[in-house]
Amino acid sequence: MSGNRTFTMIKPDAVGNKHTGKIIDDILSAGFSIKAMKYIHLSKEKAESFYDIHRERPFFADLVSFMTSGPIVAAILEKDNAVEDFRNLIGATNPADAAEGTIRNKYAKSIDANAIHGSDSDENALREGSFFFSEFEQF
Ligand code: RTP
Ligand code: MG
Repeated sequence: MSGNRTFTMIKPDAVGNKHTGKIIDDILSAGFSIKAMKYIHLSKEKAESFYDIHRERPFFADLVSFMTSGPIVAAILEKDNAVEDFRNLIGATNPADAAEGTIRNKYAKSIDANAIHGSDSDENALREGSFFFSEFEQF
């Protein structure tokens, strides 16, 4: 059975381009509720730790550099079938491939500056949400 929570980050490009409000509106309109939310500028150490699973990938340094280039908005979201439904809402990693109407289709410019993150499994949603929020913040 699939879980009912996922984790997201509105990335520095979208925050910097003043798309935060519109993206949150899209998330709420799609039926997600916000269980926790924070506006934060990641340190290099925090970003490297968050993306540890990608450490050996060729894009790791660029990813960390981009994710520390400005503030982000991190949040835990709730909805039935949250992980899969949220991945469908945000669209493909490369915005050139993202379906019409998805968040990346509307707000992302490139595979690096792709506006938003969504967890790819229930296990990672829990791990990533716990990285940013204590259990007392996840009401
Ligand atoms: P995310 O984790 O941010 O929701 O994105 P994703 O699952 O769609 O993609 P993932 O494979 O987890 O990659 C994490 C982020 O790394 C950047 N990336 N760059 N240049 C490249 O080939 C490449 N591949 C991935 C993207 O910014 C992606 O969101
Ligand atoms: Mg991913």
